[in-house]
Amino acid sequence: MCGIVGAIAQRNVIPILLQGLQRLEYRGYDSAGLVVIKNSTFERLRSTGRVTELTKKSAHSSGKIGIAHTRWATHGVPSERNAHPHISCDSVAVVHNGIIENYEELRAQLTARGYLFSSDTDSEVIAHLIHSYYLQNNDLLAATRAALVELIGAYAICVLAVNNPQHLVCARRGSPLLLGLGENENFVASDVSAVLAVTKNIVYLAEGDVAEINLHSYRIFDEGGKQVQRAMHVSELSNDSVELGEYSHYMQKEIFEQPQALADTLEAVCNSQALIPGLFGADAAVDFKNIGSILILACGTSHHAGMVARYWLEDIAGIPCTVEIASEYRYRKSVANDKTLVVTISQSGETADTIAALNHAMLLGHVYTLAICNVPESALVRLSRLRFLTRAGPEIGVASTKAFTTQLAALFLLTLVLTKQHQRLSAEEEREHLHQLRHLPSAVQLVLNMAPEIALLSEKFASKHHTLFLGRGLHYPIALEGALKLKEISYIHAEAYPAGELKHGPLALVDKYMPVIAVAPNDTLLEKLKSNLQEVRARGGELFVFADAGTRLQSSEGVTLIQMPEHAGYLSPILHTVALQLLAYYVALQKGTDVDKPRNLAKSVTVE
Ligand code: F6R
Repeated sequence: MCGIVGAIAQRNVIPILLQGLQRLEYRGYDSAGLVVIKNSTFERLRSTGRVTELTKKSAHSSGKIGIAHTRWATHGVPSERNAHPHISCDSVAVVHNGIIENYEELRAQLTARGYLFSSDTDSEVIAHLIHSYYLQNNDLLAATRAALVELIGAYAICVLAVNNPQHLVCARRGSPLLLGLGENENFVASDVSAVLAVTKNIVYLAEGDVAEINLHSYRIFDEGGKQVQRAMHVSELSNDSVELGEYSHYMQKEIFEQPQALADTLEAVCNSQALIPGLFGADAAVDFKNIGSILILACGTSHHAGMVARYWLEDIAGIPCTVEIASEYRYRKSVANDKTLVVTISQSGETADTIAALNHAMLLGHVYTLAICNVPESALVRLSRLRFLTRAGPEIGVASTKAFTTQLAALFLLTLVLTKQHQRLSAEEEREHLHQLRHLPSAVQLVLNMAPEIALLSEKFASKHHTLFLGRGLHYPIALEGALKLKEISYIHAEAYPAGELKHGPLALVDKYMPVIAVAPNDTLLEKLKSNLQEVRARGGELFVFADAGTRLQSSEGVTLIQMPEHAGYLSPILHTVALQLLAYYVALQKGTDVDKPRNLAKSVTVE
């Protein structure tokens, strides 16, 4: 995962920046870089190796103000030219986490104005854009704010101007960023662990904030441009722990990290030539040509990701797909088809049943294998011919959250690559899908902004013993995932059904004591779903409907409508998942359960 550190001090900041980057290493990266101001010029060091490489390179460098970054590219050779910081006209330097959705448009505009690009990243547009405003008034804060107005997407940035060595400017929207306050020295970081060695006094920036930090002071402006105070927290973390930061639980933190985790996972699609088989490994171009069907094997939440993918793969790519629970498949005498791509999905890559299922598939004669996994050196990755690594970063909460949504992002990429390779994707469709993917981190952020509303709603569930989740089509697996989250962390019995199946049995359970949670995207099945909801209301069931804009559903007696911010088309399951994760989390808080370590469960199920 990408990481940011910035520092201004009366001493050499390079050791502080490097130490900060080292603290972020556990999140994974493949290149690192820093820039300091020395003798009124930028000194930039970048490396595609470990932070220790950068440390060696910087042995003779020094500076009292600087910014640094770790970057995790998703395909191709991670190169020095793509590593941050990016510099515009030897004058403005920027490090960036996130995805700039409109970077192609900005790049074209800036190129027409004479800016030369030296990387393939979306991030470089930010440096040039800020520079273009900085030229006008020499005011880095004003230039950054003006540039941010033009950016669409998710970002955490830290900016430095060579002729302004008294301050750093930073901003966040959709990606975390915080200030670390020292004595006559101040810091910026994307993650508290990066500054713990130098200060425990932390100010978390809020969504849309822009801040300017100097040696002795700092100012924060909210998204309306008003100067604001943000509370200072004294971190109680030891320098060694994987930090919780401003959050109360890892699960909460991991839910809120999703815009960044998705941006990191989708970094490859910042580039318009991105939809290539190479994303999945060197042999993918040939393997993908040879396959005619897909078999997905996974457990639990990862299995739900596979169920969503089946809809995408059949509907968009036109490739037949089956999805099986790994623990069942491993003992079934199934018929192998040597033209089938076996896709395993796993957060940990160490789940015993999934590994056994993959081994079983290979024994049956399957040759083409792909692992979608969050842990690079895991057993599943090592066993598979092809791999796609999600960039969720460490997931510590037992209930899987950000691993699931990044798996979905990876599976959507797989769908698009296969569709393209089978020549079923027009240039127009490709542009539209890429646009939706780039917008995804921001769209997820909008759902996260619903947290206070969902927290209030959760009070209604604390006394319940049973719940029913309903969804249709692409969102039936999301109903399953919502029910799984709720049951595992709040211990409330939760079941999920495809809404059309209600009348074939489960409707018997519905009475006024049964809350029914419905996932209602604005899609082709909406009218059918509405009829199913009528069936529930007619039996006195209390409905809680998560509905997209435009569904024309309304709150009424016995119906609580939770309005989703926007409809995301094929990516809608990701947005609805985030809302249901929040619901499960806040219900568990109401019940006072151990959110991060629910009873009887383990994070990585390495036994059968
Ligand atoms: C539920 C959950 C589990 C895992 C399952 C598979 O919140 O986390 O259902 O999804 O144990 O684990 P991985 O993905 O590591 O193979």
